[in-house]
Amino acid sequence: MTATVEVESSGEPQATGVRFPEGFVWGAATASYQIEGAATEDGRGPSIWDTFSRTPGRVHAGHTGDVACDHYHRYVDDVAMMAGLGLRAYRFSIAWPRVQPDGTGPVNTRGLDFYDRLVDELIGKGIDPVVTLYHWDLPQTLQDRGGWTNRETAEAFADYAQIVYARLGDRVKTWTTLNEPWCSAYLGYGNGVHAPGIQDPASALISVHHLLLGHGLAARALRSAGAQTVSITLNPTAVAPLDPQNPADIAAARIVDGVGNRIFLEPLFRGAYPDDVREIIGRFTDLSHIREGDEKIINAPIDVLGVNYYTPTYVSAQPGTPAALDTPGSEGIAFRKPVGPITDIGWQIEPAALTRLLNRLHDDYGVPMMITENGAAYPDGPSPETGEVNDTDRVAYLDSHLRACLDAISHGVDLRGYFAWSLMDNFEWAEGYNMRFGLVHVDYTTQERRPKQSAKWYSEVIKRNGLGGGTAADER
Ligand code: FCB
Repeated sequence: MTATVEVESSGEPQATGVRFPEGFVWGAATASYQIEGAATEDGRGPSIWDTFSRTPGRVHAGHTGDVACDHYHRYVDDVAMMAGLGLRAYRFSIAWPRVQPDGTGPVNTRGLDFYDRLVDELIGKGIDPVVTLYHWDLPQTLQDRGGWTNRETAEAFADYAQIVYARLGDRVKTWTTLNEPWCSAYLGYGNGVHAPGIQDPASALISVHHLLLGHGLAARALRSAGAQTVSITLNPTAVAPLDPQNPADIAAARIVDGVGNRIFLEPLFRGAYPDDVREIIGRFTDLSHIREGDEKIINAPIDVLGVNYYTPTYVSAQPGTPAALDTPGSEGIAFRKPVGPITDIGWQIEPAALTRLLNRLHDDYGVPMMITENGAAYPDGPSPETGEVNDTDRVAYLDSHLRACLDAISHGVDLRGYFAWSLMDNFEWAEGYNMRFGLVHVDYTTQERRPKQSAKWYSEVIKRNGLGGGTAADER
């Protein structure tokens, strides 16, 4: 695949048509707990998100994923809708508790049957299924034994990966082990904003390791079973010093980069935790959870790195600041509150930070990448007059971030695809149904799907494999 940007006419690329490399993958993403519903159907066991969302005070307005977008029952129509939008690929996740209700032991065939039908439906419509094995819905039984703080969860994950591969591996080419282990560890066990809602830095850091180990074991198993493309999706923090000239701010950014990024990237791509990160882990644990040979397992080769990006992080040195619970070791570091344009969820919009992040990952690790999530929450709904959802702010967000991707491609980044988050409005974790990230609007009372302006715009982008003036039809 060539990584060049064709500028179709002279002048500002912004003002004219720009193309993505040939073969660029265009898709949209979802996750099981966020869309499926059918929480107790066909033998599905409870996950930590069922427990968490039923615990008063944890999720906005007591929302749960019990029904969500009812995708479990509506997948045929949903796939038809994806085909209508012209999606070439669909990134979705498998609910571990549907496949193994207790996380280990007996396989629930009816759970696997659902994904089997979904995969066939997608392929029948010419849409490439891109599977994520773990997008946060850990079987509750495993959490009862310590969840990701327990090494056995990593081993159980590799077994589960093989079970799913045995059923779908003849049709699914791209296998992603984990989605955003940063969130699983630091939000799940660090600040407790996500399930299982624990606040303990040692548990968070131990979970990081077991998540990575689970990835490594699963990656190895998938590879030896014949998986074509093996991957992991991270949400690397696009962290920068508030004052790039100030050595103390630079040092602060280095710490946040260590605990947030290099703790994942270095063992994944270089087979070892960096010394400065090990030192921080050692402040909270005796390091005995990192066993001889583990880092080598984590270093299992992958084919593509999934990158989820939404917003940048700026930090400065501010002595006396207590550590952020999601960043152990961050005493004395202040995280700047978002400034400038922000989305409905309060995340600062800065496409250039995506370019910087991709360039850095390319320069440091030289790995092919895909954007596996990028998108924006806006409180949109159908206009009472026209019934249309005119989400021009989302179109602007997506357009500017796709241009940021092109800038990275010009730098030499081997970027192979882009998945918008999300196909449709869904259960946004602790924010419940209050945040709408979809290209398609969902009316949760009727389950009606209504493609927003952004969905129509995205269809055109896909058709022309690029951005720019005129319509795709003009350019054919
Ligand atoms: C990411 C998650 C995804 C979604 C977006 C907004 O961190 O992977 O499920 O909630 O944020």
